[in-house]
Amino acid sequence: MFDPNRVCFFDTTLRDGEQAAGVNLNSAEKLQIAKQLEKMRVDVIEAGFPAASPGDFKCVQDIAREIKQISVCGLARTREGDIRAAAQALTQAEFPRLHVFIATSPIHMEHKLKLTQDEVLAEIRFGVSLARSLVQEVEFSGEDASRSDPDFLIKAFKVAVEAGATILNIPDTVGYATPEEFYLFCREVILGVEAKEGVIFSVHAHNDLGLAAANSLAAIRAGVRQVEGTINGMGERGGNSAIEEVVMALKTRADFYGVTVNLDTKKLYPVSRLVARLSGVAVPPNKAVVGSNAFAHEAGIHQHGVMAKRETYEIMRAEDVGCTPAVMVLGKHSGRHAFRARVESLGYNLDEVQLTKAFEIFKRLCDEKKETTDADIETIIADEIFAVTPEFHYELKDYTVHVGSGLAAAAVSLILNNQELKDAATGNGPVDAAYLAIKRIIKIEPKVESYRVVAATDRSDALGEAQVVLSYKGLQAQGRGASTDVIKASVKAYVNAVNRLYSVAAARGESLNGLNGKAAKA
Ligand code: KIV
Ligand code: ZN
Repeated sequence: MFDPNRVCFFDTTLRDGEQAAGVNLNSAEKLQIAKQLEKMRVDVIEAGFPAASPGDFKCVQDIAREIKQISVCGLARTREGDIRAAAQALTQAEFPRLHVFIATSPIHMEHKLKLTQDEVLAEIRFGVSLARSLVQEVEFSGEDASRSDPDFLIKAFKVAVEAGATILNIPDTVGYATPEEFYLFCREVILGVEAKEGVIFSVHAHNDLGLAAANSLAAIRAGVRQVEGTINGMGERGGNSAIEEVVMALKTRADFYGVTVNLDTKKLYPVSRLVARLSGVAVPPNKAVVGSNAFAHEAGIHQHGVMAKRETYEIMRAEDVGCTPAVMVLGKHSGRHAFRARVESLGYNLDEVQLTKAFEIFKRLCDEKKETTDADIETIIADEIFAVTPEFHYELKDYTVHVGSGLAAAAVSLILNNQELKDAATGNGPVDAAYLAIKRIIKIEPKVESYRVVAATDRSDALGEAQVVLSYKGLQAQGRGASTDVIKASVKAYVNAVNRLYSVAAARGESLNGLNGKAAKA
């Protein structure tokens, strides 16, 4: 039943979030995230933009097939091809939603679309009607709404409703709005549309000025009842509105907002970690709600206050966002039971075989290090348990490096289809030399877009985690590798990224070079 006080959450991590520079999630990773979002009870998952590529189409289709409790949405421009592709990708969804958008601001209409207002209205009528003839539920967005003339946006929304849209989205596409102004803008538009019961207004805020959550909340005050956002605020430029921030503001300040939500906030922290790990976009320690320091008290006065009465310095409880406040040190004397509890508290559901494998690796690591941390455990799970298996899968067998005062030399041997492939190269430093040796083996030349090594903990004996982003033929993939030896971590990350490049290519129905594994063996 329609509840005018209920605020719905529309998660676009897999569509707008994935548009963040350098992020490329494969279909298995997207499905893994979608399943956790479903468990967290977001109301809608925007799974992708099916017309964008065969890979995007497949992701939406896979998610539509698997996710049965909540709505699955596909994005489309007002073009016929986009709308038919989105509708087709959503065929197996239990609750499909087609999201049609076109820009409504003067700057976009004149310079990007080169359409007059009347032409844009005709596009909306056409696109929304077609979408509605194919899919039961249609959302319409006026892109760059916040810089649109409110009277024109009202007209556009009226046309969308007449054509069958029941969700009207007000995006602050470029993060230009400020809360007070946006409240008035949304209010004016909502009142002006005079929509019939059952039509919901939505907000979609970007974070260019760091105001996305504040603007989303202002819109809710104005009567909006759907918030679009992403986990960790991931997205283009400054990102999108962070779902965890908006929902925790609504819950913590329920006295002020007086609205209800269905989202299970206890899943926020595990989902945040999952998204950070798979996307490679780290969460800053001071990030609101899900940062590693969000519930940490350093100052003695604060610690004293919290010990005396928690609410002196805590407005939310760590447990309410699924974060464990007590830090328990796990080490080589810890049993499987304690290990399982820690793994579960980090948000992983490993089956017995996966747990046994992770536990064995963990025990070996305990022999190498004095103390292990959650970050070490997460790195083991990401690297060793959830690693995707691409069609062409290289494994690192061995490597050696020699570093002199000038050039460094490296020899690497990889396994492909049970066959050992070796080569050697010189380079500027050991990592560069090893990467050149790998390129000689795999016979393709991916470009390193970014490379960084981070200590999984702040101790000198920490696992080093290397992250490398490779690009090749317009595709990008990120690889990770962990080891207490940073050169080994870097080599593992590169091999992992190469494997994932093959996965990305396969997911998109593309071939990297026609050489694939066969030529590499020659
Ligand atoms: O930011 C934006 O305007 C969008 C639309 C497609 C909703 O992402
Ligand atoms: Zn957006």
